[in-house]
Amino acid sequence: MTAAIAIEGLEVVFDRFRALKGVNLEVREGESYGLVGESGSGKSTLLKAITGLAPVAAGTIAVNGRTLGKTRDKAFFRGVQMVFQDPYGSLHPRQTVDRLLQEPLAIHGIQDGEKRIERALDEVGLGKGFRFRYAHQLSGGQRQRVAIARALILEPSILLLDEPTSALDASVQAEVLNLLEEVRRRRKLTFLMVSHDLAIITHMCERLMVMQNGEAVETLTASQLIGHRVSEDYTRNLLRASEGFVRA
Ligand SMILES: Nc1ncnc2c1ncn2[C@@H]1O[C@H](COP(=O)(O)OP(=O)(O)OP(=O)(O)O)[C@@H](O)[C@H]1O
Ligand SMILES: [Mg+2]
Repeated sequence: MTAAIAIEGLEVVFDRFRALKGVNLEVREGESYGLVGESGSGKSTLLKAITGLAPVAAGTIAVNGRTLGKTRDKAFFRGVQMVFQDPYGSLHPRQTVDRLLQEPLAIHGIQDGEKRIERALDEVGLGKGFRFRYAHQLSGGQRQRVAIARALILEPSILLLDEPTSALDASVQAEVLNLLEEVRRRRKLTFLMVSHDLAIITHMCERLMVMQNGEAVETLTASQLIGHRVSEDYTRNLLRASEGFVRA
């Protein structure tokens, strides 16, 4: 089977700073894959490199079997969408939900927009009443639901999720995570998800990669992490530092 995402020897260099130092990663089709590691380890940079937002100095990235070049075309964004941490920064506050969802449809010249908007709003648990509200009138959790609807509207096969719930309250966080999991099942999506919360990663992901200083420390299954069957001290320290995780 072709990998959804196959990355080999990926180097990202900002000015002279090497943010990623030869990272390899394979995410299978339909898999939910986690990235963990301390702040600054390169997790967001890895997602940005996939979407063409970070300067790739060496290595290759292939999505659904196609090796990507320097730029990303429209077809790429129909297949791969990103959800960011900050539901305030990622949605224009003075736009209605309808406008925010129409925009990608217009850019991609999609005709059956009406059906897609209804489906996406329904899937993220926002009824019709939300369609003509302004983003600034929504709670953080509602905004993140809109951001997810917006990511889904082009019917991608891969979602890149960068700390998608870390700006939300614990209870809202759980709702949004459950929603993401349902959407993934229903749409048979592949997830590549960053979180500093190991409990979230083991709940949401089948496999994960531990990163440190721009390198992969080790690759584990969720059950290996839960059972503390890890090989590297760095991962053991992450486990120890992760409060509340001891219950596993
Ligand atoms: N645009 C940029 N210019 C220069 N350096 C950058 C840039 N973006 C990221 N970096 C650096 O690259 C390193 C990795 O950053 P990255 O954002 O990928 O970390 P992260 O693992 O996502 O951390 P966090 O958990 O805090 O979000 C950091 O040292 C960061 O300062
Ligand atoms: Mg980050």
